[in-house]
Amino acid sequence: MVLFATVTDSRYRCNRKMPKTFFITTAIDYTNSPPHIGHAYEKVLADVIARYHRLKGDKVFFLTGVDQHGQKVQQSAAKAGVPPAEFVKGITQKFVDLWKKLDVKYDEWAETTSERHKKVVQGILQRLFDAGEIYKDRQAGYYSVRQEQFLTDKERGPDGEFGPEWGQVEFREEENYYFKLEGRKKWLLDLIDERARGKKPVVIPDFRQTELRNAVEKLSGDLCISRPKSRLSWGIELPFDNDFVNYVWFDALTNYITFAGYDPKVDTYEAQSQEFRDRWPALQIIGKDILVPAHGIYWLIMLHAIGFPNNQMPQLLVHGWWNLGGAKMSKSAGNVVDPNALVEKYGTEAVRYYLMDRITTGQDADFSEKFLVSYHNWDLADQLGNLLNRTLNMVHRYRDGIIRRVNPEDLPENDLQKELRNWSGDGNEFEAGMKLFLEGFNPRSWLNAAMARVVGCNGLVEMSAPWKLAKDEQQEKLLDAVLYHLAESLRIIAIWISPVLPKAAHGIFDQLNWKMELSGKEERFSLADAEWGRLPDGHVVGKPIPLFPRIEIDEGV
Ligand code: MSP
Repeated sequence: MVLFATVTDSRYRCNRKMPKTFFITTAIDYTNSPPHIGHAYEKVLADVIARYHRLKGDKVFFLTGVDQHGQKVQQSAAKAGVPPAEFVKGITQKFVDLWKKLDVKYDEWAETTSERHKKVVQGILQRLFDAGEIYKDRQAGYYSVRQEQFLTDKERGPDGEFGPEWGQVEFREEENYYFKLEGRKKWLLDLIDERARGKKPVVIPDFRQTELRNAVEKLSGDLCISRPKSRLSWGIELPFDNDFVNYVWFDALTNYITFAGYDPKVDTYEAQSQEFRDRWPALQIIGKDILVPAHGIYWLIMLHAIGFPNNQMPQLLVHGWWNLGGAKMSKSAGNVVDPNALVEKYGTEAVRYYLMDRITTGQDADFSEKFLVSYHNWDLADQLGNLLNRTLNMVHRYRDGIIRRVNPEDLPENDLQKELRNWSGDGNEFEAGMKLFLEGFNPRSWLNAAMARVVGCNGLVEMSAPWKLAKDEQQEKLLDAVLYHLAESLRIIAIWISPVLPKAAHGIFDQLNWKMELSGKEERFSLADAEWGRLPDGHVVGKPIPLFPRIEIDEGV
């Protein structure tokens, strides 16, 4: 899946095809409280997809960051007794530190309080105001003080009252600015349908696309985009009325283009810089709660209103939620899982593996620390770690650390020879796993494929019993073939797992004594290199070191 862009830059004088950058973004996290496991999941998922593309040799631009303005942040800062700017700085650092600990390797970091972002938000708002897409209006109605929004009859319960989730509700009359939405409803429906017919639907998975389409059908009214400064000061001032600040979505969503190099003064997409157009459009990873209406309606309509053509609309990959005991995690309910504590207790790789292996992209899953430990022990320690350890031990014990390359075709035919012949060079399970991964961006199916090979190799050890072969001179070649098969499989498995478990992949390569000059560097792994038979005859492997020591289960967990 290599994307091509036509370069019409005057420096090139002629049109020529250049590989396009793969651009991936995540939601930016609110800085009203520290990160939890849901935030960590989304960023690791994006990181894994980004690493997969780098593995394929694509140029990648991975953007993530933090959403620093708004009512919730202002309130949390007031509660903590510090100015919002200072409060936000502290929480932002916690996100940055966590991504480092979790090996989330992004190319650009978005902070919505930055000057760079403010310029883009104000530039876009001014353009839309000048074009008549933003207007001022007076609204009178019931207002939820807790949720900071006007309520409609849709929010009333069966008894006709507003439920407790809205907190104090009062009648208010207020002037604000509105962004025109309803006029673009037909355009949006057509876009969703048109893209659903092509290869790149606006939303993945399918059922979320249906959810979005149904919501767009019901779209009525415009979007309130301001708050009077008297009520909210922690935001970006409207460029055409300094009594107001922008409220939420124009500030948050536009980060995706600000930090990719969008110039707000340039009013057509085609006239944006080459750098920006090389990156855009993005694959945007978001949670299910912010598809409707934020990304699926507001964001797409905003992009259309500022001149982005249909073929430059992003693709939204919507993931499910990690719950706890079947219930939504929330700070107020006191049931959030702290990813820092998990990394400290179990290490980065155990956490990344669990987050990618125990959920299907798009679905919800229930978080369990016990399972995090169990799967680490079953899959990584008992299967993968054990395979590496026993393979290297046997190569040292029986062959002084030297690998001999034997073609299974040259061995006398028997059950084991058949088994080796079928497996050597057979990348079917990897290919099937990759196809499934690409269809739903589901690392789970990919990991399953890699683990199937690991389990198969451990099965081969049991079946071939190298310790018996080593006692029989007639079986020398067969023993060499088995050992080659195990070491070469491990080399390929390392490449396959590298997007999810980069440290472990380096560990395997280090112990195999392979590509040592690139040790610790991501370029060490490439999909093209996952071809059977690259370990040469006579290669000397390193000494085994336990890769995944078993974690003892703490009974309190
Ligand atoms: N700031 C907005 C997003 C603006 S994007 C332009 C926001 N922030 S958030 O901190 O509340 O959520 C950030 C992301 O984390 C969202 O995609 C959200 O769906 C995701 N998650 C929050 N809780 C989650 C789980 N329990 N599980 C998985 N992801 C969840 O919304």
